[in-house]
Amino acid sequence: MPLLVYRPRNYDQTHEREQFRNLCVLLKERFSSSPDEMCIFIGNYNIGDVELDGIIIKNEGVVLVEFKDFGGNITATENGDWTAETDGIKSVIRGGSGRKNPYLQAKINRNACRPVLVETGALTAKQVERLSSLIVFHHPASINNQISPRIKWLHVCDEKGFIDELDLIVTPECDLQEEDFARIIERLNLDPDWLCVRYSNPEVLINVNEESAEEEPAEEEHAPSDDTGMNIFDEIEAQAAVVKVEPVEVSSAPASTLPVWIESFLFDTLKARYEPDWRRFSDNLDLSDEDQRKYLGTYFPRSFVELNTIFGNLYKSGRFQSVYSNLDTIAILDICSGGGGDLMGTIAACLQNSKRLKTLLITVIEACESSINSLRYFIQECRKQYPYVTIECKCIRCRILSVNDILAQPINEYFPYDIILFDKAGSELFRQGMKTVYKDICSVLAPLLNLSGVLCLLDITMKDEGTGIFYPQILNDQVNRFISEDGSFSSILPLSCRFKERECNTPCYTQQVFSVSHRGRSNDVSKVAYRLLGHRVFVDDITRHLSPEGNTYVVSAVNSVTCKQCRGQNIVNAFELTQNK
Ligand SMILES: C[S@@+](CC[C@H](N)C(=O)[O-])C[C@H]1O[C@@H](n2cnc3c(N)ncnc32)[C@H](O)[C@@H]1O
Repeated sequence: MPLLVYRPRNYDQTHEREQFRNLCVLLKERFSSSPDEMCIFIGNYNIGDVELDGIIIKNEGVVLVEFKDFGGNITATENGDWTAETDGIKSVIRGGSGRKNPYLQAKINRNACRPVLVETGALTAKQVERLSSLIVFHHPASINNQISPRIKWLHVCDEKGFIDELDLIVTPECDLQEEDFARIIERLNLDPDWLCVRYSNPEVLINVNEESAEEEPAEEEHAPSDDTGMNIFDEIEAQAAVVKVEPVEVSSAPASTLPVWIESFLFDTLKARYEPDWRRFSDNLDLSDEDQRKYLGTYFPRSFVELNTIFGNLYKSGRFQSVYSNLDTIAILDICSGGGGDLMGTIAACLQNSKRLKTLLITVIEACESSINSLRYFIQECRKQYPYVTIECKCIRCRILSVNDILAQPINEYFPYDIILFDKAGSELFRQGMKTVYKDICSVLAPLLNLSGVLCLLDITMKDEGTGIFYPQILNDQVNRFISEDGSFSSILPLSCRFKERECNTPCYTQQVFSVSHRGRSNDVSKVAYRLLGHRVFVDDITRHLSPEGNTYVVSAVNSVTCKQCRGQNIVNAFELTQNK
């Protein structure tokens, strides 16, 4: 029965997406009638500096998988070209990125990832000694395999023959047991958010997580087991926070890019470096210049794209657009701004969409000196890029010990604010002891909003180690409490909250996935939870064309998690203001 399918990010090519889906269906059929076996399929996975179309780890062996968009009469050789002939037309089958043929490609991939599987501690040298490769053709194929029978590690088939060929791969030295799978999941950092639940048996993770409970969490761990040994799916269901619908196809967010000047300023001028280290950067009060470079190269682009996308999408909504695109001045307050990734992403959206914009009035509060310095550099550069816009920026260096400290700062000059940002800071303040930070922030900041202002509270999706509760749940719970006590404000997004927050007392695990490509990293994925709030009158106005009638809202597309307060036939993305009629 147990099959776990992971896919860190979607494939670029249509045929790859199709092949992945077809193989998942076949694997599901194969393993659902075999309760004693276990199989992990990881699609589109980078390991040892090579990109694998897939890797299959089953009890009797580990198999690297290559997809090929060919069929017909296939000739496979060690030295020459591989060819595919259909209706008398012959094509050469390339081995990917300029490599000579698929055999050589498979050999290079095998040699590159075998030592990594051992070095990570995922598998032993013996278990991967006879690591296999399987080349799978997308279309029906008749294979003339001229490769020496002595090369036993290479297998070739089409999709029809896939399961038979896979079953033939048996490595007696491998013989993986449940504890091996627990270790593999841990050591390969298989993030639960990569799970394709449509094809997987996530309940198996309860046991698997218990096996690896003592290990350090993986980078940006989002939904591991908690103290009860439950995984996020069980956890959320147990709380009746959500219902699962027939799983929604997981659509990876298309990777966004940074504006050229931002990318160049980050990496050329500020010498930023991509170097993720979630533990080091879970507390950013005191970053050295060296840390700051790593922070900027890794986390700035993510924050930029998150906020740029969120506000860019708001501008696409008719009523919001009609108000905001006519503004000539926009006042922004950014609490715990860091180096300004969220601020710059927001500003870029405003500059792009508010065509009459002449003045930006910015106030930031931040404790870390090197972060304030970076933000100032960005503002200076922004002035050069947009000389026709006046950009005033007031940076207040202050360590917030209680949320009321914000009101003690000189923040009135540009009051009231069109946009207030409180991004990825609640989790830090929560760990510093401010246990009702999201609710208190709403109480203090929402009244500073202009009548058509937007307050964005956004945070990471990890679990708080002290309470064992995920930050999205803490955020949603506290925002709901604020809203139910103060009738003058409402959520704009997620839409399920917009309609049901007053009667909802469920701490929901919400999540949206973003992806950014820049010169430090392509397709860097970030996952965040957020709520956008505004004055109730304004929110009613910009959402008046929407109704929850007949809708089921997906609040975390990765896990096909939906809000249980609204059930209907239409499956709707809770984060899209524009798609919902
Ligand atoms: C993860 S960063 C987020 C930066 C930015 N908002 C973004 O989304 O990219 C959190 C920021 O909060 C600041 N911070 C944490 N605790 C603080 C406190 N008590 N007072 C003021 N700033 C604080 C940190 O210095 C850090 O720059």
